[in-house]
Amino acid sequence: MPVFSDRIRHALASREQSGLTRRLMPLSGGNRLELDCNGDKFVNFSSNDYLGLACAPELSKAWQEGIALYGNGSGASPLVTGFSSAHQNLEAALCEWLGFERAILFSSGFSANQALLFGLLEKGDLLIQDKLNHASLMEAGMLSPATMTRFKHNDVESLKKRLTSDALVVTEGVFSMDGDCAPLKQIRDVTNGKAWLAVDDAHGVGVLGADGRGSCSEFGIKPELLVVTFGKAFGLSGAAVLCSHEVGDYLTQFSRHHVYSTAMPPAQAYALTYALDMIQTEQWRRDKLLELQHYYAECFSSFTGYVETRTPIKPLVLGDAECSMAVAAELNRSGAWLTAIRPPTVPKGSARLRITLTANHDKSQVEWLAKHLYKALEKVG
Ligand SMILES: Cc1ncc(COP(=O)(O)O)c(C=O)c1O
Repeated sequence: MPVFSDRIRHALASREQSGLTRRLMPLSGGNRLELDCNGDKFVNFSSNDYLGLACAPELSKAWQEGIALYGNGSGASPLVTGFSSAHQNLEAALCEWLGFERAILFSSGFSANQALLFGLLEKGDLLIQDKLNHASLMEAGMLSPATMTRFKHNDVESLKKRLTSDALVVTEGVFSMDGDCAPLKQIRDVTNGKAWLAVDDAHGVGVLGADGRGSCSEFGIKPELLVVTFGKAFGLSGAAVLCSHEVGDYLTQFSRHHVYSTAMPPAQAYALTYALDMIQTEQWRRDKLLELQHYYAECFSSFTGYVETRTPIKPLVLGDAECSMAVAAELNRSGAWLTAIRPPTVPKGSARLRITLTANHDKSQVEWLAKHLYKALEKVG
């Protein structure tokens, strides 16, 4: 008897019972800041569109230009006929900007992380990851033939204890659920000459560092491997692994996610090159974000659960999953789109509201959120 139906029913029922069921909400068109869900309007405080590029008209125009030049899809994997001059230009622009010899493109950050770990690791290798690394990294680590160990979050002493020569150390630059930064300088110091360091900078690139070069620029380090993703500050989607010539050649030959997967549409690569130019030249977006972050601190620092971060990710840790859900629902009724983040995405007892700011918000929206959050917390108790 096939076991799947029973297994699926049981998993769904137990998720429902524990109050952790997630639901898809279809949103109508419009911009990413003011959402329309079945005619109800919400201000979005939960996107990763940090620089406000997801709906920037200039970027839409660039994508349309890309379609006019290259057509709709890539039509094949990169080594067949899916790689175009648009992909090549994007790779070159990323290398120049971030200071690496090679950039290899992927259709998502999830697949880039998996490609990297599956591509590099063999039986007998040691993979050392920060305990709070993204699911894509954890899953790849668990499924890879290497031995995986995790160090305490952002704890360099804990990392040092696990470090042996020839290990691969992996950390995020900015942690997606906490908005805190990895101590990259100290991590580089302890790994230098001993182990390779890979940094997943999905949430740092575009936002931190000189001209938005990200966490590594902010902390003045260069890892052997850097993953940047395009679904957040770039306002589009996709990802790249930045590396040496040799690693680039190796991933091109052996990374199954690269070899056996359709290349991203060339028009998207064309638009991404345009987005990269906007990131480099439109400093005002980062300045505005910083101004909003200061204002957020002014409005929210007295709230229980407030956490100071130098990034636009602002967790408000309420602890209890049900309470976080109730507060998020209350805010929803007031017109704020906020998601409660619950286990298993975050550790048990640390359920939270994950509030994110973007360059498209304004101060009055931050103030409005503080007022309604205060009311919601009072009501839920
Ligand atoms: C740290 C981190 N890495 C990788 C990813 C996956 O990137 P993508 O959404 O492009 O698959 C995410 C997505 O949220 C992330 O937060």
